[in-house]
Formats: sequence, C-alpha cells, structure tokens
Amino acid sequence: MSASLWIQLAYLLSAVCFILSLSWLSSVPTARRGVLTGVLGMALAVGGTLLRPELASYKWLAVAFVLGTTIGVPMALMPMTAVPQRTALSHAFGALAAALVGTAEFFLHAHGPLDRFTTGALALEVILGFLTFTASLMAFGKLQEILPQRPITFRGQNLVNLGVLAVAVALGVALVAGKGGAGAFLLMGGLALAFGILLIIPIGGADMPTVISLLNSYAGLAAAAMGFVLDNNLLIIAGSLDGSSGLILSIIMCRAMNRSFTNVLFGAFGQAPAGGAQGAEAKSHRSASAEEAASILVNASSVMVVPGYGMAAAQAQHKVRELYDLLTKRGVDVKFAIHPVAGRMPGHMNVLLAEANIPYDALLELEEANAELPQTDVALVIGANDVTNPAARHDKGSPIYGMPIIDTDKARTVMAIKRSMNPGFAGIDNELYYLDRTLMLFGDAKGFLAEVVKEAQAEASGG
Ligand code: TAP
Repeated sequence: MSASLWIQLAYLLSAVCFILSLSWLSSVPTARRGVLTGVLGMALAVGGTLLRPELASYKWLAVAFVLGTTIGVPMALMPMTAVPQRTALSHAFGALAAALVGTAEFFLHAHGPLDRFTTGALALEVILGFLTFTASLMAFGKLQEILPQRPITFRGQNLVNLGVLAVAVALGVALVAGKGGAGAFLLMGGLALAFGILLIIPIGGADMPTVISLLNSYAGLAAAAMGFVLDNNLLIIAGSLDGSSGLILSIIMCRAMNRSFTNVLFGAFGQAPAGGAQGAEAKSHRSASAEEAASILVNASSVMVVPGYGMAAAQAQHKVRELYDLLTKRGVDVKFAIHPVAGRMPGHMNVLLAEANIPYDALLELEEANAELPQTDVALVIGANDVTNPAARHDKGSPIYGMPIIDTDKARTVMAIKRSMNPGFAGIDNELYYLDRTLMLFGDAKGFLAEVVKEAQAEASGG
C-alpha cells in the first residue's frame, strides 16, 4: 500500500475515533472509554501526518515535540479546580497554531497559489485563530485571578468592539477580492488580536466557563477553516466536531443558568450586587455539630447529597464516599443530586464523584432529584450554594432568577456544609440557610465530613 493510502486510512480511523469519543463522552458510564478513544484518534492523526511526503526533515518537529511536552505536562498537572483555566490555555495554543499556519500559508503559498475560496478560508482561519488566542489568554487571566474578575465596561463599548471586528472582516473580504496585500493581512490579524481582548473585558469571572466553551467552538472553526486551506479532510472533520460540540455545550450551560448568549457576552454579569450578602448578618440561622449531623444522618431513611464547588475545593469526594458506604450499609437510601452547573466546569461533580467510585446509578439529574426531594428526609448540601438558592424560583430582582435549582428546601431537613455565611459565585445571599428546617454545618467540607464519618461510625456501632 502506498504512503498516501496509509495516511488516508489513518485519517479515516482517526475521524471515526473522534466521533465515537464524543458520543461516549456524553454519558458518565462510558466517559472513560470516550477519553481513551479520543487519545487513540489523536495518535492516529499525528501518526498519519508524520507519514506525509512533504515532511523532508523531522528536526523541527522534534523541537516542537520537546517544546510542546515541556509546556503540556505541567498544564496537565494543574489541580482539578483549575480545569477551566487549563482549558482556556489549550484553546489559546490551538487557536494560535491555526492563525500562525494561516499566516505562513499567506506569505509562503506552500500549498500552491491562493484562489478566492482558499483566501476566504484563510482569512476566517486567521481572524478566528487570533481573536480566540487573545480572548482565551484573557479568560485564563480572569479565572486565575491575574486579571480583575469584574466586568470592565465603558460607553459605546459594544459599538467599538463590533467596529473593530467589522474592519477586520472587511479587510478579509478585500483580500478575497484580490484588493489587499501584506499590509491588509497584517492589519486584519492585529485587529483580530485586539478584538479578542475587547471581547472578554466586559465579561465577569462568573461567565468565564461559558465563554471558554464558546472559545472552544471558535478554535474548532479556525481548525476546520485551516483544513480547507491545507486541503486536509481530517482537520475539516475534527474542527467541525470541535466547533459544533463547543457551541452545543455553551447552549446547555446558558440554559442551565437561564441566560441567553447575548446576555453572557454583553450583559456584564458576575459582579456581586451592592449589598448582596450583607443581609446575612441581620437574619438568624441555626447550626449543628458533626455529632448532631451524624445522628440525623444515620437515623434518616433517605438522604440526598447535593455537591457543589466547595466539595471540589476541599477535595472532599473520598470522604463523601466513606459516608455513602457507611449510610448505605445501615440501609439509608443515599442519592446524589447533580446540578448541570454545580462547581466551575461542566461535569465537575460527575468527574469528582466518579473519581471516588460513587456508583453511577446513585447520581440523579436535576429534574429526577427535584421529583424525589419532597419525600426525602435529609438534603445534605456539601459546598453548594447558588445552585440551591430558592431566590432563583421567585425573586425577580435576583441575578440568578430563572436559573433551575435543586429544590433542597423541599426536603424535611436540610444540612449545609460550608465554612461561613459567605455567598457563592454569584455573590448573593442564600435564603436556604435561614429556613427553620436548615442546619448550618460550619467547616471545611473534607474535615467536617471526616468528623461526621467518625461520629456516624461510633453511633452505628453503639446502636
Ligand atoms: P457556589 O455557589 O460558588 O458556592 C460554593 C460554596 O462552597 C461557597 O458558598 C463556599 O462557602 C463553599 N466552599 C468553598 N470552599 C469550601 C470548602 N473548602 N469547604 C466547604 N465549603 C466550601 O457553588 P455552586 O453551588 O456549585 O454553584 C456554581 C456557581 O458557579 C453557580 O453560580 C454557577 O452559575 C457558576 N458557574 C458554573 C459553571 C459550571 S459549568 N459549573 C459555569 C459558569 C458559572 P464558604 O466560603 O462559606 O465556605
């Protein structure tokens, strides 16, 4: 078989792997298989590319491999709570690669003269690539708190932003019409870089995960456009899959937060409203000790655990598993209510609970959990806040009004583990904490649960 056939075969198998990977990634029990299939697909894509005849020397590829590995390994070791930032960095690099390949192609014509269609694809690749690069770096900076998280707004901002993008697109159109040269191309790239920065400035830290999945989509579209420029089918397929899945994920996240795209991109959300959490001091709440909490849990017949960002921050999932084992052994029916945007990234809670080997069938989606909560003895909230706030159901003035929530307030008893009365990500006070049926369990989630497990063991062996 000729090298070209081997390459096409590797690319075909790679495309199949990517499609299967995405399909398996969409459900928790098959997600691990999905990741491994995606890795296999990428290995086949790289292997096929290494066979290409135009690769006269492997020297520069070896340099790129060492450089990429040196940057990639520490990125992969970033903590689980920093996954959104890490994803933003990956998009930044992917998009920069697409933009630089497009720039090289424009100046070198390595794949032959540029016809109108190729020039159009190239302009799209470069605009999307450069804007995604700077936007992703800005998103990384906001999430890592290197840059201010609050939205920065000024008069006429949307007009300025759209104006910058419009001029970049007009330059791209001029290039397609054969009216621009190197100067127009460089200006187009520069404006795209500037637009990426301007796009993120007015968006608050709270909306960054949604924006990152949108940037994922842009990076995928840039790669697909690159596929047209380089006449590479695999890039077109993989880029389109990436582009569409990123867009679908953004839509799912917006729905779960009851936000529209335009509201995320232009709404300057994510800042605590003035006086948002101040009422917390005036209202009264009840608290309980680990011993009291353990006693309530072992004597319940059903418990709904509601995990949130605090469980991730405390890395408390293994203690949650210990409590789950102990209670289920006592005959308590323990389930987990998973809110689609609990934590800081899509699937955050699923990943952590899977890591602790919590059985998948104990995990309930929002609607299923809400159907069971009115008959549930205890709702145990572990570091979740916004996703349990009843204000989302009735307070039209609340920034989270309309967001679907886990109806923990409908359970017979609510216990909420957190370190203080401080608000969650949306910066607003949570009505749940002041209900008669709610007991606050103050402490770090991991430490507090360790005490609860100890007390529950003592109670179980005593009883
Ligand atoms: P949050 O509302 O952010 O609340 C987390 C709570 O955990 C905080 O109130 C904090 O209270 C507590 N906490 C932090 N560290 C802790 C620790 N070590 N031990 C115990 N508790 C700890 O989280 P949530 O309920 O999961 O909601 C997620 C929020 O992020 C929503 O507003 C959502 O819209 C937003 N968001 C999520 C996503 C995705 S994709 N997940 C995307 C965009 C936006 P203390 O400080 O008092 O401990």
